[in-house]
Amino acid sequence: MIQFPKNFLWGAATSAYQVEGDNIHSDWWQWEKETGKENSGSACRHYEFYKEDFDLAKGLQHNAHRLSIEWGRIEPEEGKFSEEALKHYVDVILSLRERGLEPLVTLHHFTNPVWLARLGGWENKRSVKFFLRYSEFVVRALAKHARYWITINEPTVLVYEAYILGVWPPQTKSLWKARTVKNHLAKAHIKTYHLIHKIYKEEKLSHPLISVAQHMQDFIPCIPSFKNKLAASLRFHWFNLELIDRFLRHKALDFIGVNYYSRQRVELQKWGIRNLALDVCQNEGHCVGEKNSSGWEIYPEGLHRVLLRLKKYRLPIVITENGICTSDDPLRWRYIEAHLRNIHRAMEEGVPVVGYIYWSLMDNFEWHDGFGPRFGLIDINYTTQQRTVRESAVKFGRVCETGILQ
Ligand code: FCB
Repeated sequence: MIQFPKNFLWGAATSAYQVEGDNIHSDWWQWEKETGKENSGSACRHYEFYKEDFDLAKGLQHNAHRLSIEWGRIEPEEGKFSEEALKHYVDVILSLRERGLEPLVTLHHFTNPVWLARLGGWENKRSVKFFLRYSEFVVRALAKHARYWITINEPTVLVYEAYILGVWPPQTKSLWKARTVKNHLAKAHIKTYHLIHKIYKEEKLSHPLISVAQHMQDFIPCIPSFKNKLAASLRFHWFNLELIDRFLRHKALDFIGVNYYSRQRVELQKWGIRNLALDVCQNEGHCVGEKNSSGWEIYPEGLHRVLLRLKKYRLPIVITENGICTSDDPLRWRYIEAHLRNIHRAMEEGVPVVGYIYWSLMDNFEWHDGFGPRFGLIDINYTTQQRTVRESAVKFGRVCETGILQ
């Protein structure tokens, strides 16, 4: 039996675009139309059903919930801010509070307003100013009701998917652009961090807790040759830690938000920047663990290893995402359980983890993979919008209620 501390944050996450539906002012919406990809459409209609969804989260004994604000709704045209959309999100946060759920609010979760995409998105250096202006509008309204902020979700993943792999909008493969975008995202985080602190001071509110949600993976050399070891350790640094180090140099992190799903077995094909950044072992026989339905290896020990690497920062850590897409619900519970055990082990070894947020509260639109992958604690029937709580959710709920894992 293991026991987590009393005031541990327990909950699940969503992101606006993936659950709300009809985010017509966002670049992804446009991109789905242009490319003929599966359309996010009305998704889970969470924009309408958020209260019902939060009732379910409360029933599952969650005490926290991570969500995001859709920039395209707040600022559908450059410089034109929607009071109506803002009011909606105030209501959303208040609904969480009424149910005893601590909100963790993400300002940017992959999507941009269409107008910004037309101006070059994060390649444009004005993106930083635009993001600050939008953030100020939102934070001024929500500061009284929220304490935890995530400025940007997975900046490194956004750069990889959109500018290195070139599979997400704007589907570009350019290391130069990748570098520019990463720098703009980093700058946006640092400036927004200081802006949010300033707003809380002006409003005489107790200080906020701000981070990014940094996707981290365990990188191990597949065959432990010199080149694979070197590539794995470089990638661990670039992918997981480089931004964290940068933010700390600017005193711009109050905690570390970690999104963890899997590991990568690094197998360098040849020397080259792209190879160092991307090469993984293609030999299926080398994969020891089970996989989720999207083919990501399940490797809970990797979370323990990642957490130990974060110990030196001496900052509280919130697991802001961890989850599995599967049609095998008992496997979902085994996944959660194994990751919780590895988190607890790291805590016993001195890593200050203060919360665990499962991805996701409900099945949703999984970006370019569409509605196929099912990550939810709650099943969504996309035809009827019927919600059904899964057995794994109930088991996780018992841990949320008691802090005890048998
Ligand atoms: C993370 C994203 C989240 C979701 C999960 C499965 O990288 O932050 O939106 O897609 O993966």
